[in-house]
Amino acid sequence: MSAVMSYLALKYFHVACVLLSGLGFAWRGGLMLAGSPRLQGRLLRFGPHVVDTLLLTSALTLAGLSGQYPFAQPWLTAKVCGLLAYIGLGTIALKRGRTRNIRAVFLVLALLAYGYIVSVALTRQPWPFS
Ligand code: HEM
Repeated sequence: MSAVMSYLALKYFHVACVLLSGLGFAWRGGLMLAGSPRLQGRLLRFGPHVVDTLLLTSALTLAGLSGQYPFAQPWLTAKVCGLLAYIGLGTIALKRGRTRNIRAVFLVLALLAYGYIVSVALTRQPWPFS
């Protein structure tokens, strides 16, 4: 396989992890809103760690292979910040928020952070809405 093809394959793997992470998060958010005990199920507790580890590993490998690094490329810095926000807001939404209302608000905020990261990725602009 040529280097370009493996880069592309890795990029699609990265995007597949992105979709799995987003769908998994939205699904868990739905279970949280419904107050379902299935949120504590084994697959839903450990699956996201596997997906997110693969997501981050593919991200760092893509950055390394393409020579575009966070803190050198503003759009990659924006992705890192967006990812930290997605994780932080997401744990409040699924776990730490004390009332259901708080968790619901943080669920929306986490999904907005996710949308922000995807639009940064697609436009390669730290502020895609301008
Ligand atoms: C710190 C974490 C991340 C880094 C360093 C990173 C880095 C990268 C790099 C280098 C590419 C390839 C760009 C190219 O060659 O065209 C890429 C593509 C992409 N990333 Fe990430 N990524 C990160 C996290 C994320 C997250 C959390 C999401 C979504 C929630 C995401 C969504 C995407 C998408 C949708 C693409 C494909 C863009 C396209 O088709 O042009 N990334 N990422």
